[in-house]
Amino acid sequence: MAALSGVGDTNRRLVVRGVVRAPGDKSISHRSLIFSALAVGQSRVRALLQSADVQATARALRAMGAGIPPLGADIVINGIGADALRSPREALDCANSGTTTRLLAGLVAGLAGRRARFEGDASLSRRPMRRIAAPLRAMGARIEFEGPEGHDGLPMSVTGGALSPIAWDNPHASAQVKGALILAGLASGVAVEVREPARSRDHSERMLAARGVAVDVFDGGVRIAEAQHVQPLDVDVPADPSSAAFFTALAALADEGELRLTDVCLNPTRTGAFDVLVRMGVPLRIEDERVVGGENVGTVVVRPGQLSGMHIGGDEIPRCIDELPLLACVATRAQGETRITDAGELRVKESDRISAVVENLRALGADAEELPDGMRIVGSAKPLQGHVTTHGDHRLAMAFGILGALPGNHITIDDPECVAVSYPTFWSDLARVVGPVSPTNAVTSTHLVIAIDGPAASGKSSTAQWVAQRLGVRHVDSGAFYRALTYLALHSNVEPERWDESELLTHAPRVGQRMTERSVLPSVDGAAIDAPLRDRPVTEQVSRVAQMPLVREWVNAQVRHAAEASDVVVDGRDIGTAVFPRATLKVFLIADPWERARRRLVQRLGRQPDDPEIAEETEALVARDALDATQSAPARDAITIDTTALTQEEQVDRIVALARATRRSAT
Ligand code: S3P
Repeated sequence: MAALSGVGDTNRRLVVRGVVRAPGDKSISHRSLIFSALAVGQSRVRALLQSADVQATARALRAMGAGIPPLGADIVINGIGADALRSPREALDCANSGTTTRLLAGLVAGLAGRRARFEGDASLSRRPMRRIAAPLRAMGARIEFEGPEGHDGLPMSVTGGALSPIAWDNPHASAQVKGALILAGLASGVAVEVREPARSRDHSERMLAARGVAVDVFDGGVRIAEAQHVQPLDVDVPADPSSAAFFTALAALADEGELRLTDVCLNPTRTGAFDVLVRMGVPLRIEDERVVGGENVGTVVVRPGQLSGMHIGGDEIPRCIDELPLLACVATRAQGETRITDAGELRVKESDRISAVVENLRALGADAEELPDGMRIVGSAKPLQGHVTTHGDHRLAMAFGILGALPGNHITIDDPECVAVSYPTFWSDLARVVGPVSPTNAVTSTHLVIAIDGPAASGKSSTAQWVAQRLGVRHVDSGAFYRALTYLALHSNVEPERWDESELLTHAPRVGQRMTERSVLPSVDGAAIDAPLRDRPVTEQVSRVAQMPLVREWVNAQVRHAAEASDVVVDGRDIGTAVFPRATLKVFLIADPWERARRRLVQRLGRQPDDPEIAEETEALVARDALDATQSAPARDAITIDTTALTQEEQVDRIVALARATRRSAT
């Protein structure tokens, strides 16, 4: 099986280069919408995260009458203040978002006479809400659960009241609980104090202070006085450190290169994963550090390092809680043992991240074990291969996506689309950073690779198939990989007009490789898929898909991977140049346009075409040649065969003879 960039065996080197601006911080994005709705007047939010979780918050606020416009990179919110918010007419669908649920439950609790029912997807409905229900009830709100006795998950109804002030000792560090109580206090005008055993992320405190609220942060907690007014604010949302962490890890595990992650939120309550990586041995430095809207922001510059296993635990856990699945994946590549402890909270995140991470690591062949409050991983250089079940958890999909991008690992992922929760463009950003294989790190396969290239309708595909058969090696059908991606995109709910590289590559981790006796073909979700790839809707869309550069990179990576497992004949554009600069034999087939047009029509019509038909087709082909000029240049060491006067059998004979001669001279 192959993953997004399932690019090969351990001969290949991963070189990363480039700049990534991860999308806006999720925690800050939620809060910028909610606090802007509470302020009377105009707030502006730039670089907002436009992901499924933030959409859930926006939808819920709109349902309560707040003026939240359609989300964009730069939006203006005309806040109406808490008093003007009303009960939503229908249940609030919080989808997968715990932050939406807990923060907005706090808000509704503080709005006397207002009531809302909260619903969510299966994952969210399993998450505990008693942690907010208990203090909100203690303040005087009514919270009802519908499930069996003792069940504290969604659906949940919250009825607001005239609340009493509260001083709450929270047994865990939780920014969601803290945020819920602060919102309840602000909405009902009462004082709130929250104490925590360790410091949880403090974005609410920082943003409220910037909005004129008197926030008293003391050792062990925070206090907000009664009767505070929230003012409008212009917010520049920094890049999410939890999203940037994926690329930090990728650069740390690469063989060569450097990544620069810009505008990253470096709030000290969020930078635990960077600290852990540095302790593990990653050369990571911060540049251009500055303060933007009360948050520290900077560029994280990362290079590959020699990593050692670590203990991650104690007060450090809340500072890297969302990155622990990723750090566990990184630990599989570190020398020695990594232990994560004091992280029982992982069991109640979007999935039980202790059991899900360990189960997947083991399925891939890694040495991992569950602990009651964490996990233990022993690193090795062993390739990791297999299929990942994400349980719909975005951070699992991305953490394993990073592992899958490493040379030698071949990982498919069941639900890559779930990254939409926090990082919708993750897969295309990954493809861009992993980038093309340069001649310096090209595959040095020990296998035979026959690369057949040529202009449109030169007959390269059918000739390649026949050559493979005659030589008894596999034909790699690169076109089928473009078709697999097209097929998956057609089965998504996104209209073809809205397809771009980012959308298409979202589906890539579902595509694996299947070896038959004669060919290497794509599989989808681990199963064979042949006939549907030839369906008409796929055929109609595939050429557009195949023109997108990052999609081409992905298919090229698939083809290279196939060549690392067995002898192959491959046909397609760029095959002898970009894809296999070191192929055993490179053949470039040319033919007079008239003859190519005739062959294409015979194939299409199943009869001999007449001259006017050929003339028309020739014109189209010449135009296509001009468009393709950059792609179809032969490699300098390619052998060009003019097939104008050759039958297909004669072409195949020649290539087979050349292949045999090359093989002989190589041995
Ligand atoms: C968040 C707080 C954290 C974190 C979550 C977002 C927030 O959860 O895991 O992804 O925005 O407040 P806790 O409330 O459990 O700390």
